[in-house]
Amino acid sequence: MTEKQTNKFIDFNKIRSEFPILERKINNHKMVYLDSAASAQKPKVVIDTLENAYLETYSNVHRGLHWLSEQSTFKYEEVRKKAAKFLGAKNENEIIFGSGATQLINLIANSWGGKFLKQNDEIIITVADHHANIVPWQLVSQKTGAKIKAIPVDENGEFNISSLKNIITKKTKIVSVPHVSNVLGTIFPIKEISRLAHEVNAICVVDGCQGAIHLPVNVIDVDCDFYTFSSHKLYGPSGVGVLWGKSSILNDMPPFIGGGDMIDNVDIESSTYADPPHRFEAGTPPIAEVIAFGSAIDFVQAIGMTNINIHEQKILKVFTEKLQEVKGLKIIGNSKSKSGVISFIFENAHPHDIATILDQKGIAIRAGHHCAQPLMKHFNINSTARASIGIYTQEHEVDDLINGLSTVKKLLG
Ligand code: ALA
Repeated sequence: MTEKQTNKFIDFNKIRSEFPILERKINNHKMVYLDSAASAQKPKVVIDTLENAYLETYSNVHRGLHWLSEQSTFKYEEVRKKAAKFLGAKNENEIIFGSGATQLINLIANSWGGKFLKQNDEIIITVADHHANIVPWQLVSQKTGAKIKAIPVDENGEFNISSLKNIITKKTKIVSVPHVSNVLGTIFPIKEISRLAHEVNAICVVDGCQGAIHLPVNVIDVDCDFYTFSSHKLYGPSGVGVLWGKSSILNDMPPFIGGGDMIDNVDIESSTYADPPHRFEAGTPPIAEVIAFGSAIDFVQAIGMTNINIHEQKILKVFTEKLQEVKGLKIIGNSKSKSGVISFIFENAHPHDIATILDQKGIAIRAGHHCAQPLMKHFNINSTARASIGIYTQEHEVDDLINGLSTVKKLLG
């Protein structure tokens, strides 16, 4: 990956000032945005690129023989190259755009799973997966008769590779794991997981939604087979997701959705299909949003994902240390290798009540099961409150959170 490393001072306060919405007041308080794991705020450059894509070059892609369409197509396809470079991929034709990681995991499950899974094959996921990396596999298992097995995490939310070794077998065809848990923050050892998957000739799928936004990723080094994430969590527009897949695997996969732009030749009764990536991109895509997503990639790469990770780790450490001192607060997820989020339960307060009271003070957190009900059941809880960190989060915002929690205690404790 080509990116700047930590060889110079980076002014994260200045970077924060590039996010106009963060200057807003919410409920008459300065805004404290601790919900970036759900969706990140957007820097001005991304908003400007989105606007300009509509104001200056908007037209459909891959179809027109006129100037606007050529401009749109050129800009759109440049983002494919940027996304490939961002993930360390060799070839931009291994990048597929979709509406988000959820759709793209459904693509893998339906296309690869629908073609290759058979009765009694095994799909391995983890208890820490987001529903987007659970339900698509359930749907394909209902169609094919493949069975789903889940790797546990321990009471700290730690993943132990031996638990994969214990359940993987020659029947395993897919190992699909999160790069980073959206609830626990646990960073999964995806390189080792891929290696074990390949030992039994299974493919390894990585849900990188909470990974690629915090950590440098190199898919060649990880040697997984698929890696996916969503633009809106990487400071880009919503409605865009990226799937990287190895070309040798993509070439062998049938389309997931049929329509325009994904074909080679169409007759009334049958069609032949375009090569990847277009085989998997039926219909008009979110053109301006993809182009603006390119600006989001440029934005983070100018800082460097390594630098972002180092900075966010410092913020996470301060948040963790200070929250650990709050009486009555218990952090859920204490892995040694962690990123991005701190989930907690507090006193007897329901997480929804915590979030509502904090909102009155301009503090945005997420509360609930975080689309990870199996994980909640694993920990024998219904929900957590979750503060999540982005590039613009500042150390002192944990003090605002702790002040807010003292109000929660006064009202509900
Ligand atoms: N998956 C997103 C979250 O964890 C929406 O909040």
